[in-house]
Amino acid sequence: MNVDSELLTAELDMLASFSDTPAPTVTRIVFSESDLAARHWFKGLCAAAGLVVREDAVGNTFARWIGSEPSIAAIGTGSHIDAIPHSGKYDGTVGVLGGLEAIRTLQRSGFRPRRSIEVLMFTSEEPTRFGIGCLGSRLLSGGLDATADQHFKDKAGQTLAQVRNQAGFTGALDDVRLSKSYYDAFVELHIEQGPLLEQDGIPIGVVNAIAAPASSRITIEGEGGHAGAVLMPTRRDAFLAACEVALAIESAAKSSGSVDTVGTVGVCDVFPGVVNGIPSRVRIEIDVRDTDLTRRDRALMQIEEACHEIAARRRVSIQSETINADEPCVCEPRIVDALRGACRSLSFSFQDMVSRAYHDSLFMSRIAPTAMLFIPCRGGVSHRPDEYASPEAVATGVRVLAETLKALAS
Ligand code: HGY
Ligand code: MN
Ligand code: MN
Repeated sequence: MNVDSELLTAELDMLASFSDTPAPTVTRIVFSESDLAARHWFKGLCAAAGLVVREDAVGNTFARWIGSEPSIAAIGTGSHIDAIPHSGKYDGTVGVLGGLEAIRTLQRSGFRPRRSIEVLMFTSEEPTRFGIGCLGSRLLSGGLDATADQHFKDKAGQTLAQVRNQAGFTGALDDVRLSKSYYDAFVELHIEQGPLLEQDGIPIGVVNAIAAPASSRITIEGEGGHAGAVLMPTRRDAFLAACEVALAIESAAKSSGSVDTVGTVGVCDVFPGVVNGIPSRVRIEIDVRDTDLTRRDRALMQIEEACHEIAARRRVSIQSETINADEPCVCEPRIVDALRGACRSLSFSFQDMVSRAYHDSLFMSRIAPTAMLFIPCRGGVSHRPDEYASPEAVATGVRVLAETLKALAS
């Protein structure tokens, strides 16, 4: 089986051109014009491959190669094409276009699947627009229900319902959910977004666990005032309190006893946001993860205790709203073995890994036997314009994926 690496590389480049920021950066926010154009283009590729394409009420897109037994549970693969602002062109897209190329490679080889094979493009894997990651796969797997339509709003105050309807997705959100018998297996190809495979010179990572992500929105209310007139002892500066919260998050992660605990403050909005006004309100969004649920939740507890202490000492109010606090995923041994078997039959070395990034597979694992495979990315860099995976690395990932899909769909 030969992957058409030249075509796939050209398609990855083409997909990167659907962006709201100039190359080499990629910005493709869910349901933006560039996202809708990319979706239209991708559906055209799937139709050209003879796949049956459908979209659900939130824009999850399914392109199915009908098997000889079309009524039995299918084999799924896929990932996402939305990209955070000023990022790169491989995060997610390798799993979507690579999934399509794996199907085309199998078609060219003359293989006929018994189980249908379906490549998915999930809606809104990134939290950029609606503040929560994996919106599409959470709805598919029942992690969210139709209340999401009004609950989630973008920065302009538009609800998910308004945005998806404007994008042409007008169905009932309740219809998005898939039953546990829909897929017999789900496999996602993704760049590692870490340095280990490249460091070890190993072409494939077989993912057997996905870390547990949690994120919260924390609002700190102090007292504004004139930057010149208000003396330091009387201040209740919301930004300085937020700084202490941020350092408490770092301390909770670093003191957990494991390098697997990570904490990040990626969003910080200061009000009124003027150089000569004392911040009266600050909103931060925090992201805390660990491969071990108990350790992650202990870190969250430590952060909450620190907030209480900071609030009392600095006479500010600190309110925390949980956005998500998900369980980790242990990947399905049967699918992990299928990936290992494919690597062995193609004579590719591989290593078992944990995914520290979350992926749609974290939620697909709630409704289907699921596993992932990683390919190396240069320097482990991701979520940056210099994110890079070589054509050889991508082609190797697609070959292993194709071999795995063939085994699972036979
Ligand atoms: O944040 C993540 O782990 C994923 O890349 N959205
Ligand atoms: Mn990402
Ligand atoms: Mn991703």
